[in-house]
Amino acid sequence: SRMPSLAACYNLLDFEAVARQVMKKTAWAYYSSGADDEITLRENHAAFHKIWFRPRILVDVENIDMSTKMLGTKCSIPFYVTATALGKLGHPEGEVVLTKAAHQHDVVQMIPTLASCSFDEIVDAKQGDQVQWLQLYVNKDRDITRKIVEHAEKRGCKGLFITVDAPQLGRREKDMRSKFSDPGSNVQSGGSDIDRSQGAARAISSFIDPALSWKDIPWFKSITKMPIVLKGVQCVEDVLRAVEAGCDGVVLSNHGGRQLETARSGIEVLAEVMPALRERGWEKRIEVFVDGGVRRATDIIKALCLGATGIGIGRPFLYAMSAYGLDGVDRAMQLLKDEMEMNMRLIGAARIEDLNPSLIDTRGLLGG
Ligand code: FNR
Repeated sequence: SRMPSLAACYNLLDFEAVARQVMKKTAWAYYSSGADDEITLRENHAAFHKIWFRPRILVDVENIDMSTKMLGTKCSIPFYVTATALGKLGHPEGEVVLTKAAHQHDVVQMIPTLASCSFDEIVDAKQGDQVQWLQLYVNKDRDITRKIVEHAEKRGCKGLFITVDAPQLGRREKDMRSKFSDPGSNVQSGGSDIDRSQGAARAISSFIDPALSWKDIPWFKSITKMPIVLKGVQCVEDVLRAVEAGCDGVVLSNHGGRQLETARSGIEVLAEVMPALRERGWEKRIEVFVDGGVRRATDIIKALCLGATGIGIGRPFLYAMSAYGLDGVDRAMQLLKDEMEMNMRLIGAARIEDLNPSLIDTRGLLGG
């Protein structure tokens, strides 16, 4: 099959179309699949289309500044590369490709527990004061988890994102059908009896502790000084509880539609969460991140208007990497930056702080 040129990719969805054609079937199945009937997977993206803009005119938008802070560190733009396992399924160099692109664009990268490259390889690929976070799957053996966390802090990670939406892996049937058989993954977290007949996801996740609970949060706070963020929070009650537990952040996420089927989109949960935080005067006590279905800068801007601190992007960078390697991820990030600058101008906001709820109409999202 003929490969379209990189210059023919004009937006993030174009990379997905190319990746679908050129990727190995097992890799495509693992990256693209969602749980069950993929209703949440589709809703993640569709939910953004229920929000409309209320742009302001005659604002000086000659100079656009997209820089911001996430968990206390500066970055060029408020999106980050979220954690996605098994980078080598898509590209022989794996996650370090994302590290290099993130450096070129001054974007934060979240390192997955289940990366194909070793954790140290990914940290070694970092340049200058590039910022990385660690995504953590909590092992039943807490000594293993403690070592992973302490090592990450020692190697300079600036945030600990504990995944809380995966006490058991969801049924990703596309992935299960493709019968995972690729040994190219390095599973550093000690799943011993790996059953490869159940798809990539199930093969690598048997070590995750389903008994993890709120009672464990003080222990995490006692073993690290990194900010602690719960990844996969899905309702306002749990955000309030995270504040009370002393967490530094939450990611409103349904794991890219790969876990609980018919879970709500992150953006919808965000619209529920931010007013409740503001009502209590708690909006400065916790940073609220969101991911799932973000494909356009308009999606990012809508989340920022609602009050998100940062927006995670998963599959689009995997697809860009799988199809075109570093050049692909570089272009995907540049396209997003270009879209972001243009749309901030068109909405009438020169800085990230200028984005606020008055610039969007959420009646379609909240009303039905
Ligand atoms: C993920 N995600 C994920 N999350 C996590 O906490 N640990 C992990 O190991 C993985 N692995 C993973 C693999 C793949 C292939 C995908 C697509 C996703 C979820 C990820 O961090 C994020 O929540 C979603 O990917 C966001 O949705 P989009 O941007 O992919 O639509």
